[in-house]
Amino acid sequence: MSATLDVAIWRGTEDGHFQSFAVPRREHQTVLDVVTEVQRHFDPTLSYRFACRVGMCGSCAMVVNGRPRWTCRTRVSEVAEGDRLKLEPLRNLTIVKDLAVEMTDFFDKWKDARGYFEPGPAPETDFAVVPPETRERQTANAGIECIGCGVCYSACDVVAWDQDYLGPAALNRAWTLVNDVRDRGQTERIDAVATDAGCHACHTHMSCTQFCPKQIAPTYAIAGLKRAVMKRAFGGGG
Ligand code: FES
Repeated sequence: MSATLDVAIWRGTEDGHFQSFAVPRREHQTVLDVVTEVQRHFDPTLSYRFACRVGMCGSCAMVVNGRPRWTCRTRVSEVAEGDRLKLEPLRNLTIVKDLAVEMTDFFDKWKDARGYFEPGPAPETDFAVVPPETRERQTANAGIECIGCGVCYSACDVVAWDQDYLGPAALNRAWTLVNDVRDRGQTERIDAVATDAGCHACHTHMSCTQFCPKQIAPTYAIAGLKRAVMKRAFGGGG
């Protein structure tokens, strides 16, 4: 291991370029540490995002040596190719500047998939009791820890071909709500994910499931939505 890392960072917008920095290599250094060191000691105009630094907020995702990752929980020692790091903004999203991307489309698609809790016109006044051992609760729990980092969306080939596709994160969120027994918006939600841009557009490439830093499996969530859409089409309700 040499004393410095050769770090190539994307600068500018879509027609930008890579800029190289020689960054001191340190023990236990994360990729986010490297980016922060570049911004603090080499070029204060470098744009990137982070907030929590502990894998909670989802804002630090980038493409690291060709693969989307959360950078605050990714150690350089796990991903450097020799001493080289190549850092790019997430794919399938418009670049704002350098490593920062516009997330509006990504989160608008959560709304389009009706990825929000619908209490109905007369919500219960008391707390609902949802036993942890029920199938619905366990299925919802399997996808609930999504931090909205955009790694799956950046990795998805279908989003790359079809910018209207709702994408794995929004569909995973919809599936958690389909399995929420308190929710009263199932018919509308199933209809929302049954469109051409919805769950049937998924070709099961599994990139989302392979790269999710929280080990969530959106591919299985999308398969669940496909079943739910079929069930509704054959008169089985939402
Ligand atoms: Fe919050 Fe990485 S900085 S998840």
